[in-house]
Amino acid sequence: MNVADTDRMELILFHSGYRRTQEKEEADLILVNTCSIREKAEQKTFSLFGGLKPLKATNPDLILGLTGCMGQQDGEKMLKRMPFLDFVLGPDQVEGIGKAVNRVRESDKPFVWTGFDSEKIYSIPEISEDLPQKPGPSAFVNIIKGCDKFCTFCIVPFTRGREKSREPEELHQEIRHLIKHGAREIILLGQNVNSYGKRGLNNSIPFHELLYGIAEISGLQRLRFTTSHPNDFTRETIRAYRDLDVLVNHLHLPIQSGNNEILKTMRRDHTVEEYLELIDELKSEVPDVSLTTDIIVGFPGETEAQFQDTLKVMERVGYSSSFMFSYSPRPGTPANEMLDSVPEDVKKRRLQEIIQLQNRLTEEQGKSYQGKTVEVLIEGSSSRPGYSFKGRNPQYWRVNAKGNEGSYKPGDIVKVNVEQTSGHGLSGVIQ
Ligand code: 5AD
Ligand code: SF4
Repeated sequence: MNVADTDRMELILFHSGYRRTQEKEEADLILVNTCSIREKAEQKTFSLFGGLKPLKATNPDLILGLTGCMGQQDGEKMLKRMPFLDFVLGPDQVEGIGKAVNRVRESDKPFVWTGFDSEKIYSIPEISEDLPQKPGPSAFVNIIKGCDKFCTFCIVPFTRGREKSREPEELHQEIRHLIKHGAREIILLGQNVNSYGKRGLNNSIPFHELLYGIAEISGLQRLRFTTSHPNDFTRETIRAYRDLDVLVNHLHLPIQSGNNEILKTMRRDHTVEEYLELIDELKSEVPDVSLTTDIIVGFPGETEAQFQDTLKVMERVGYSSSFMFSYSPRPGTPANEMLDSVPEDVKKRRLQEIIQLQNRLTEEQGKSYQGKTVEVLIEGSSSRPGYSFKGRNPQYWRVNAKGNEGSYKPGDIVKVNVEQTSGHGLSGVIQ
C-alpha cells in the first residue's frame, strides 16, 4: 500500500514540476513515507531521518516531509521529536501532497495534516510520456482504503481509518489508462479487498463482480489482488478463479495463527477449520493454485503447544511463501493492553522455526517446477549473471530467464523451461 501511495505522490508532484533525483544531496524535497505496523519499521524511520537532518544545514531550502502511518498516529509528536521536519501528512492525505509542499513555501511554520477523508474519490493523474517512472508491466490499483476489522494486534484501522471503496467506473478508467501506458498485469490493492463494495459506493457491487467486470478490459493479461481476509472471502470469488482466465492462480490469505484460542484473542473471528475449508474448496476448483500467508508468532499468551499448531497448519496448507513476524505491541491497540507474555528470545526462536519450515515448504514446491514450462510476464532485466530477463509466473514465483535480449521486452509473456530453483525463485530458458 505504501509503495502504491509513494508512486501516487510522485505522479502528483511530477505534475507540479518535481523530478526524482538519484542522490538525496541533490533534492529540494525529501519525503519519507512511513509504516507503523511493527516497532522495527518505526525505528528505521528515525534512523533514516537522523541521516537526512544534516542536509538541512547544507541546503536551508530543502523541504523534509514525513508521510504515512507514523504521521497519522503521532503527527504532533513527530514534529516535537524532529523539529527540522516541515510537515507531516497522514496516509489519507496523499492527494494533498502538492498543496502541502506549496504551503511550506508560503509559511515557515511546520504543520500536520492527518484528517480522514470519507468523501473524496481519487483523481487519476495523467501519465505523461516523459515520466521517468511509467507504470511497469505490473501495476497496483487501490480499490478500497481503510480497514474495519480491528484485529487486536493491528494499528491499521487507526492509521488508515474506515473502509471506503472506489467506484467501479473510476477503477475501470484507471485500469484502461494504465494498460494504455504499458501495464499488462493489475494488482488490486486494499487492506481487505474482499470487503470491496460494502461501504461508500453509489452503485454497490460485491468484490467478485468487480473481478468479472475488470477481467473484460481489453489488453489486461493478468489480474491479482491482495490482501484478503478469510471471513470476507466468498465462494463466488473461488468460482471467479475457475471462470476467469486472467485471474492468476495465486491467493494470499493471511492466517496469522494456527490455533483457535489465539485466533479468538486476535479477533480474527474465524476458526482454523473454517480457514482450511476455504483452502480445500479453492484447491479442488483450482488444483495448481499457490497459497501464501501472513503469520505472527509470540502473540500475548501463545503457549508452545499453540505455536506448534501454527507449524501444523503451515504444513497442512503447504504455503509457497509466507510473511512471518514476531509480535510487536502497538500503542493504542487492544492487544497492547494484554500482557506481552512471550519473552523476546522465545519469539525469536519461534520465528526462526517457522522460517525454517517455510524454507523447506518453498524448496519442495520449487522442485515440483523443475523440468516444467511456466508462463512468465517479463518485468525487466535480470540482475543474475547469465540471465537476461526477470518476471513472475502466475503463481507469483520470481523467474530469471535466458533468452535473446533483442527478441523480448518488458510486458511480453513467454514460456520458460525451468532448470533450477533457489529460494522462492525459478530459473530457466525461454522456449
Ligand atoms: N506485530 C506483528 N505483526 C503484525 N502484523 C500486523 N500487526 C502486527 C503486530 N502488531 C502483521 C500481520 C499482518 C501483516 C501486514 O503484518 O501478519 O497481516
Ligand atoms: Fe489489520 Fe488486516 Fe486485521 Fe485489518 S484485517 S485489522 S489490516 S490485520
